[in-house]
Parts: sequence; C-alpha cells; structure tokens
Amino acid sequence: MISVSRVTKSYDQVRVLERVSLEVAAGTFCTIVGASGCGKSTFLRMLLGQEQPTSGEIKLAGKPLAPEPTPERGIVFQRYSVFPHLTVRDNLVLAGDFEGTPILARRFGAARRAAIAAADEMLEKIGLAQAATRYPSQLSGGMQQRLAIAQALMKSPPVLLLDEPFGALDPGIRTDMQDLLLDQWRERQLTIFMVTHDIPEAFKLGTRLIVFDKVRHDPQFPNAYGATITYDLPIQDKIATAGKRAAVETLVSTHKKDEAS
Ligand SMILES: Nc1ncnc2c1ncn2[C@@H]1O[C@H](COP(=O)(O)OP(=O)(O)OP(=O)(O)O)[C@@H](O)[C@H]1O
Ligand SMILES: [Mg+2]
Repeated sequence: MISVSRVTKSYDQVRVLERVSLEVAAGTFCTIVGASGCGKSTFLRMLLGQEQPTSGEIKLAGKPLAPEPTPERGIVFQRYSVFPHLTVRDNLVLAGDFEGTPILARRFGAARRAAIAAADEMLEKIGLAQAATRYPSQLSGGMQQRLAIAQALMKSPPVLLLDEPFGALDPGIRTDMQDLLLDQWRERQLTIFMVTHDIPEAFKLGTRLIVFDKVRHDPQFPNAYGATITYDLPIQDKIATAGKRAAVETLVSTHKKDEAS
C-alpha cells in the first residue's frame, strides 16, 4: 500500500534521513521508535505529503504522493488540533462530515442525526460524553488530546498517521485509548503509522516495529549523515517477540546517551 524507496531528507545542509526504504502492506499497524530528533516526525510529514523528500520516492497504492495533503488521499495527521469555535460534539460531527462529502458540506436530516449518533457513541468510548457541549478551551490537555484522536478516527482514513498521540495522557486513560485504537484498527481495517517514545506501547500496538537511528557518524561533518531504518521487526507473535524488547530499548537509549554527551 505504501512504498518508500531510497528516501533522503535534508534541511539546508543538514541531512536528517537517508536511505529509507520500506514497503508496508494494507492493514499493517506500524509503530515507529527512535531517539529524539532522528527524523520520525519528518518521516510522517513526508508520508502526509506536507514535506517532500530531497531524493527518492514515496508511493501510495502505486501512485506517487500528490505534492499537497488532500482529504481524498485519506491520510489524517494527528495534529491534536480541534476546532476551537465548535463544541466537543460538533468537532466529531464535522469530522464525520468529511467522509465522502465535499469539505465542510454539512449533512441534513436523517444523515445528520446518524452523524450525531456516531459522534455520541465515540464520545462515550473516549469518556467525554459529559463534556459534549463544552468548547475545547474548557477541556484539560488530555481531554483535548482524546478529542483529537477521536476526530482522526471518525474520519476513518485508509491510512492514519499518529505522532505520539498518547503523550499527554495519564496511564489509565492511555491504556483505554490504546484499546480503542486497536479496536478501530481491527474494525475499520486501517493502515496505521504511529510514532511513540514508549517501547512497551510500540510492542503492544504494532504488528511491525520500525527503529530509526543514525548509524554513520563523521565527527568532522556531523551534519553529513542522517538516520535510517536500523531495525524492522514483525510482531505477529507478541510472545515470541517479547524478548526483543530489551534489544530495542538498548538501541534507542544508547543513541540518546550519545546525543547527551
Ligand atoms: N522545517 C525544518 N527545518 C529545518 N530543520 C528541521 C525542520 N523540521 C525538522 N528539522 C530538523 O530535523 C531533525 C528531525 O526532526 P524531527 O522533528 O523529525 O525529529 P523526531 O524524531 O520527530 O524527534 P522527537 O522524537 O523529539 O519528536 C531535527 O534535527 C530538526 O531540528
Ligand atoms: Mg517528533
């Protein structure tokens, strides 16, 4: 479904990513880990079409990505941004409106009632039913984040891009949201790319785990080399791969220490 071939990304003279190649089948839940600053968000922005690779190519279902993100492409980026002038419920109703209708076309009559029912069902699942008529500014950070995740899920895109979506959530709610995401992934057969700093979470959710790391270093030209995919682990069998957690943990943390020194 997604094909990334020999992608390189540089900003000015700084190489962020290099030699990134990846084939991802539809229905894969791809979790992405790597040290801070190694280019994970940049990679997601390229999948979205918000950034162009410096060289190499990204194809979605056999076609090169359009130069701008479009709703038809069916990719939603997790921006944690909700519409401030709409209530919690209307934020979700509007998200549903994007589906199969021109942007901002509002539904009427029975279709609108169905959209509201779907929004309320989602609000129940994310624990925001009591806050349906509030505005985003009246929510806590974690509540806003849940609303943003729900909004992305309501759009039901074939490819969902999530950049550390659970960062601001406390542990109990985080587990609930992970379970919700897994349910939606199964139910709607989504293809997901999700960046996380939490390695147990990457193992719990993913069917494939990707590690980005910088392998080449030149002390004279610290900007000459970028990060690449250093580990690509299928996690079909959660028990068999449990032992690999420590290895991935080390890969990511060793690099963090390098950076700090
Ligand atoms: N628009 C930009 N212009 C110049 N440099 C950029 C730009 N966007 C990102 N970078 C640089 O690219 C590198 C990778 O950034 P990116 O945000 O992709 O990292 P990351 O892996 O997502 O990090 P984190 O885990 O902290 O979110 C960083 O060194 C960053 O400073
Ligand atoms: Mg990032």
